[in-house]
Amino acid sequence: MERTKVAQLLKEAPGQQVLAKGWVRTKRGNKNVAFIALNDGSTINNIQIVCDLTKFDEEFMKRITTGACLAVTGDLVASQGSGQAVEIQASDIEIYGECDATYPLQKKGHSMEFLREIAHLRPRTNTFGAVLRIRHNMAFAIHNFFNSKGFYYLHTPLITAADAEGAGAMFQVTTLDVDNPPRTEDGKVDYTKDFFGRLTSLTVSGQLEGELGATALGEIYTFGPTFRAENSNTPRHLAEFWMIEPEMAFYDIKDNMDLAEEFIKYLVQYALDHCLDDITFLNNMFDKELLERLQGVLKDSFVRLTYTEGIKILEKAVADGVKFEYPVGWGIDLQSEHERYLVEKHFGKPVILTDYPKDIKAFYMKQNEDGKTVRAMDVLFPKIGEIIGGSEREASFEKLNARIDELGMSHRTLEWYLDTRRFGSCPHSGFGLGFERLLMFVTGMANIRDVIPFPRTPNNAEF
Ligand code: 4AD
Ligand code: MG
Repeated sequence: MERTKVAQLLKEAPGQQVLAKGWVRTKRGNKNVAFIALNDGSTINNIQIVCDLTKFDEEFMKRITTGACLAVTGDLVASQGSGQAVEIQASDIEIYGECDATYPLQKKGHSMEFLREIAHLRPRTNTFGAVLRIRHNMAFAIHNFFNSKGFYYLHTPLITAADAEGAGAMFQVTTLDVDNPPRTEDGKVDYTKDFFGRLTSLTVSGQLEGELGATALGEIYTFGPTFRAENSNTPRHLAEFWMIEPEMAFYDIKDNMDLAEEFIKYLVQYALDHCLDDITFLNNMFDKELLERLQGVLKDSFVRLTYTEGIKILEKAVADGVKFEYPVGWGIDLQSEHERYLVEKHFGKPVILTDYPKDIKAFYMKQNEDGKTVRAMDVLFPKIGEIIGGSEREASFEKLNARIDELGMSHRTLEWYLDTRRFGSCPHSGFGLGFERLLMFVTGMANIRDVIPFPRTPNNAEF
């Protein structure tokens, strides 16, 4: 007999023989009957298995405990109890894997911190089941969105010799013996002897390569892991996170903002359409305003204003007695507390801030006529702060080249990139959406570690 997944079983009509396979969530009952809640990951909901104890002997039933893995054959019948339409009247149970009393997932809830320590346990909880199903659906929706618009999925490299963001917080990749590396005459490590014949690292962004794609294919996107060695142990930073980076020829900053807004709204709508069971579970479990927040984002147009206007609002707030941990003034890199003030307190909806000071943004952004700001755009979200960072790109070879000099960056590792400006340069724009930041918003999870199956953070890479 063929196995039917639980998600499907719950939609089937009663009056048929079925085979279900899954893990025991709970078992309860009395002398005559046992009720087993079985889950196979296909849905947040369990199928109830009813065991008539005249048919199963006591010793056998004792082996079925929370966490055990079973194959259950029986009749699908209309349920007597409330809470489910159908249940399985078991006729035969095979125990695939027993689960002894040291299994840590018992009825009571565990903290997110505790679950992070136990690799095998996390995905079997209701919460992570819900998060991981939503994560999958969002990845699928991202490809759907871009494919339907004629964007091409471009695979950019993970190992790179360039530093796109100029932040310097990169993980080095080497095959040299780090205890005893080859050295040049002046005593420095000789990277010409390394695997790639030069110093290489894990990428912080696929953007630079993405621009080569956009200036040939028109519209592309990347979607892959990126790596940052910044030592920021916050609930919003990972050392390994996934980023979606569309890059479009002939888009100016306004086109870029329109795309970003349409994109996020599409994803939130897709989540509501396809993951409502899981979102409702998370809403009831952790965050009673989650559904409302998701619907709220769909309703309004995002507010668009310049960084300079944003700073004025923050300065006024400070003058009116609002306390921030970090000081406010033109030129500062906005902290999440500032971003969230604008979004949650001042406007009550998502905000796109544009035209940031050039000194706090990356070298490739289009320079404004004022000589002080660049055509950057950050999308700021409730609860999260920055969810997207992007810009129109500097298309002029001379200006870009001058900026690279000004910042003292190495031309040698960027010549291939500068060629896009040397040969047939065009106006173009793009942005990066942090996949886990998006998932924090959609799931309501408060810590970014809880929206990725295997988080990588400082001092944490065991599994
Ligand atoms: O603002 P960022 O650094 O922009 C770029 O990397 C550009 N190259 C993107 C582009 O224009 N193509 O990062 C983009 C987004 C941020 O807005 C944030 O959502 C996310 O990536 N992000 C992180 N997410 C988790 N952990 C981290 N350490 C992150 N750093 C950035
Ligand atoms: Mg940014």
